[in-house]
Amino acid sequence: MLSYQHAYHAGGTADLHKHAAMCLLLERLAEKDKPFAVVDLYAGHGVYDLTGGEAQKTREFEGGVGKVWPLRGKKSPPGITRLLGGIEALNPTGQLVRYPGSPALARGFLRPDDRLILNELHPAAFIDLKRWAARDKRITLHKRDGLEALVGLTPPPIRRGLVVIDPSYEIKTEYADVPKTLRKAHRKWKDGIFLVWYPILADERHADLIAGMKSGFDGEVLACELVFDKPKGAKDAPGLCGTGLIVVNPPWQFDQAMSETGEWLAKALTKTGRHGCAWLKRDDAPR
Ligand SMILES: C[S@@+](CC[C@H](N)C(=O)[O-])C[C@H]1O[C@@H](n2cnc3c(N)ncnc32)[C@H](O)[C@@H]1O
Repeated sequence: MLSYQHAYHAGGTADLHKHAAMCLLLERLAEKDKPFAVVDLYAGHGVYDLTGGEAQKTREFEGGVGKVWPLRGKKSPPGITRLLGGIEALNPTGQLVRYPGSPALARGFLRPDDRLILNELHPAAFIDLKRWAARDKRITLHKRDGLEALVGLTPPPIRRGLVVIDPSYEIKTEYADVPKTLRKAHRKWKDGIFLVWYPILADERHADLIAGMKSGFDGEVLACELVFDKPKGAKDAPGLCGTGLIVVNPPWQFDQAMSETGEWLAKALTKTGRHGCAWLKRDDAPR
């Protein structure tokens, strides 16, 4: 299908939630001397121009990064501080004109021996991504179907790292196909950390995804949701009602760090919205 274009949505609330979680996970991976790999299966364009036609048409970034950008320099949880640092690196004059996609954020954490494996199927997005990644020897690019690549590209040669699964959910069956395929990938890479983003819509079609993530995984599985203000009298309102994340094998105490970050975001971005994390599967064994 490939009609989705992330440039219309870059820097919106969903990006902030997903990217703050990514920052927390990447920070943990970069704490140790050992190299890590990031596999980003739906990478998008790399970096987004907020002054461009797409971003200006929806102006979604105003309700997301536009609200958080003025808060830089004030006290914020580590996930937000790191995310703001990544955004500041692209906007050195202080004027918010560019927003980092998941590849740009991940690249900000890479050391010489770490690796970033990017996949994107959309021809135009792939060209932008290739241009953006040019000559960085730590980055490899693929143009494959994301779910096929989830199994094909895992585990990466460096067996310590993160897989980012951020589909556009243009095809309804993706909600059921993601957990099915993720189970196969997880069997091949038991220690990998897997981050899945999903939209929360009024018709709750993400229920299939949540149900599928509750079984068939050896490790722990955490879900975190940021639910927006309810539009007045709009039970079946179109558009996002919230943004969700699932993490397979979350690092120790990630749930606490993500709760703090998510609650901060709910306060900064919404009037009455809320954030919560819940275990879909919890290991009882003490760590
Ligand atoms: C939500 S956007 C990705 C945003 C990016 N992860 C970020 O956070 O900056 C989803 C991307 O998946 C791409 N895409 C859609 N269907 C795909 C497929 N079957 N395989 C790989 N990429 C696909 C779209 O072109 C789009 O760039």
